[in-house]
Amino acid sequence: MFVRSVHYHDWRNLAEASADFSPGINVLWGMNAQGKSNILEGIYFFARGRSFRGARERELVRFGSDFARADLAFRRDTFSEDTALDAVLPLSGKKRLAKNGAPLSSIAEMLGLFRAVLFTPQNLSIVTGGPLERRAFLDIALSQISGDYLACLRRYVRLLAERNALLRRAADGVEVSEEEWTVYAEGMAEYGARIAGYRREYVSLLASAVERYFAGMTGGREIPGLLYRSHALPDGFVLPDLLTNPSSKADSGPLYQKLTENREREIAAGSTLWGVHKDDVILTLNDADARTYASQGQQRSLVLSMKLGEADIAKRIGGEYPVILLDDVFSELDEERRRYILDSLSGDGGEEGSVRQIIVTSCEPDVIPGARAERVTFRHVTNGEVSEN
Ligand SMILES: Nc1ncnc2c1ncn2[C@@H]1O[C@H](COP(=O)(O)OP(=O)(O)OP(=O)(O)O)[C@@H](O)[C@H]1O
Ligand SMILES: [Mg+2]
Repeated sequence: MFVRSVHYHDWRNLAEASADFSPGINVLWGMNAQGKSNILEGIYFFARGRSFRGARERELVRFGSDFARADLAFRRDTFSEDTALDAVLPLSGKKRLAKNGAPLSSIAEMLGLFRAVLFTPQNLSIVTGGPLERRAFLDIALSQISGDYLACLRRYVRLLAERNALLRRAADGVEVSEEEWTVYAEGMAEYGARIAGYRREYVSLLASAVERYFAGMTGGREIPGLLYRSHALPDGFVLPDLLTNPSSKADSGPLYQKLTENREREIAAGSTLWGVHKDDVILTLNDADARTYASQGQQRSLVLSMKLGEADIAKRIGGEYPVILLDDVFSELDEERRRYILDSLSGDGGEEGSVRQIIVTSCEPDVIPGARAERVTFRHVTNGEVSEN
């Protein structure tokens, strides 16, 4: 799919701004603080239903105005007409969303219509941060391509919160029946095993994609490694590939055992100590831990390749490429890496009828090395306005 156009009214510093885009590579360029990231934030809003900066909705309203509005028109691969999504965010009162002019009753109704993968410099925390950041990456990516994953995750998270409350009550001396513990252990083991199965397959698909991007970017000098490490499952424990085979059954035995044999310790700790809520993805470059040893450019390359891999997997599972939004991605990447990334993205993805679009922000117009620039759409952003070239 690809974005045809956006229009903003009082969205952050974009008082009244319109931009149209083409399939392929689009560069939004301009000096600092002109509105480039605000434009991406607006586009991504329609994919996730909220700001990628974690901003509250009222922060999106331009200073002095009482509502912000964004309109997006995008084209799906198999449709010959645009789909229009609109969002009106008032300072007070409820937000209003619409599809092709007809009101949508909730964010849930909007999610899944427009798909995008976003890279921002904050995403570097996927490498530099703790396990929570990596699980969040997996959860967001998987939730977008598997309704079953999202359902399992929601149930697991609810059971986990309830069980933690139960553990604290037990610590206060409240009697909890064996049946009640069993209900939680069974539920969390069942959903947990499915979650681990999905995540493990996802990480192995992602690992191949990341390897490919790194081979191209570094000519084979840097070999990345991605491994899903399940906190509660024995090494080598086999889980089914649920992404490609959602009807498979995952063996919940080992998780169930962990949730029963450690209960006394968990009561003392007041929280569930074993389970997929503690899992992690181990990231390495040339076998060294990326968090500790990778350079800034290497960390950026790793996160960027994970995001591009995320788009490739979304295409493979969902049939259509999501729009790729890259905010300030090229600082710290050397020319060899830039060139490879742009070359590999500027093709049509090698599959007929599958449109790929990249929208990238930059302070300089000349991010695109050499002749490629002819096939790139440039939009200049100054003081909240967008102009051609
Ligand atoms: N609610 C708001 N009302 C008005 N202006 C705002 C609001 N929120 C943010 N801004 C302003 O929008 C301007 C542009 O921000 P943006 O993050 O889009 O810049 P940018 O072009 O991406 O710059 P950089 O190259 O530094 O990343 C900033 O000056 C910021 O102060
Ligand atoms: Mg910016």
